[in-house]
Amino acid sequence: MTLWSGRFDTSPDPAAFEFGVSFGFDRALFEDDVTGSIAWAEALGAAGVLSSDEMRAIVEGLRAILEEGRRDPACVSGPDEDVHSFVERKLVERVGEAGRRLHTGRSRNEQVSLDLRLYLRRRLPRLQADVAALVAACADQAERAGDALMPSYTHLRRAQPVLVAHYFLAHAAALRRDHARLAAAAADADALPLGSGAIAGTSYAIDTARLATRLGFSRVVANSIDASSDRDFVAGFLYAASVAMVHLSRLAEDLIIFTGEEYGFFELADASATGSSMMPQKKNPDPLELVRGKAGRTIGRLTGWLATLKGLPSGYNKDLQEDKEAVFEAEATLHDSLLATQAVISRLSLNAERTARAASGLLLATDVADYLVARGMPFRRAHEVVGALVRRLLTEGRDFSALTLAEWREASELFGEDVPRVATALASVEARRTPQSTRPEAVRQALEECRGWLAAQGFATL
Ligand code: ARG
Repeated sequence: MTLWSGRFDTSPDPAAFEFGVSFGFDRALFEDDVTGSIAWAEALGAAGVLSSDEMRAIVEGLRAILEEGRRDPACVSGPDEDVHSFVERKLVERVGEAGRRLHTGRSRNEQVSLDLRLYLRRRLPRLQADVAALVAACADQAERAGDALMPSYTHLRRAQPVLVAHYFLAHAAALRRDHARLAAAAADADALPLGSGAIAGTSYAIDTARLATRLGFSRVVANSIDASSDRDFVAGFLYAASVAMVHLSRLAEDLIIFTGEEYGFFELADASATGSSMMPQKKNPDPLELVRGKAGRTIGRLTGWLATLKGLPSGYNKDLQEDKEAVFEAEATLHDSLLATQAVISRLSLNAERTARAASGLLLATDVADYLVARGMPFRRAHEVVGALVRRLLTEGRDFSALTLAEWREASELFGEDVPRVATALASVEARRTPQSTRPEAVRQALEECRGWLAAQGFATL
């Protein structure tokens, strides 16, 4: 029996019916469906559509169904077409005839939109907490790194020395934007669609503003036609999840490189690595590779969902049922990836000697050029002078620290005895001036600011 069988004189073709059944996955909306229905029953009662006895019977029946489903999630199953049909069937089994009045003035079109909005608003804070936990792991690494130095890279070639702490706080900064984007996705979903009916609105005097407040929404949708097929909030969530996965993927890529034999900047904990079935020496960064790989899935869900939406005529279309698996999969992928990345980062150890060694040498060229600029030379000219010096040092296999004062002077008369002091990684980072720079004092303040942010999210760190 379906919710619509009265219209038809035969039962549906099994293959066609099975193809449309969504209960296998939309059972994840069980709790939200019941919550929404309880509020709807109360609204029908307040509008005088249900007698107070009917309303009470329905609400009590739904509460019992919710409790049973929470206690034993396995009981949320059956031959039903979808979770909405399941809940209605259970209700009628429990309270009889009154249960058949629940769907008055309501359509599954708005109901499913409501359920998914409630679901996202309930679940997004969990993802935000996962993101904050990873920010905390980055902050802890930044703290532990102290004043350790490492090279920064552009084009994956050594660029300028930075503090290791600055590097970890860079990833924390990106993750905090993800946190904000997840909040924006919750704000997208923050509108009550009930009262829209199937498409034209409902003909019962439902106090939608009150119903919105009752369900935790700050507003009611503006237009019933738009509401029946608006899934922008799904696209918004998939976008937020995709950008977060892109950030995790880039962090993973960095660490795959930095923990490899050629760099050796960090050591992966044995617990975060896997071995090879054939090569006994291997220590592979599988969790990081999987995070990088899974980013493709989430991006696929986003582009797939936009492709589903783009051809839809106005109003509800069954294509929209595809929204749920996209949301559930993106949520699970992001959650698992955040946890795995946090596990890797929190056990990562720094090889400060190797990072310091890699942060010295010719990557101090910009600082040497700045030295000349401080003594009056135009920067473009200084760039040429130091470029020529670098060319010479490269052919001789030396670096700045090996130059005698006479050799410095050969390159430019402006070089004085103090130049070796400028051409060190520590002097380089200390020479930075802006708050977003790698200047140690600025990094200390950035770390403190990050700790403040984490505390505001309810996180205690190191
Ligand atoms: N399972 C459907 C979905 O996810 C519920 C809405 C059904 N509405 C309808 N008119 N068939 O979209």
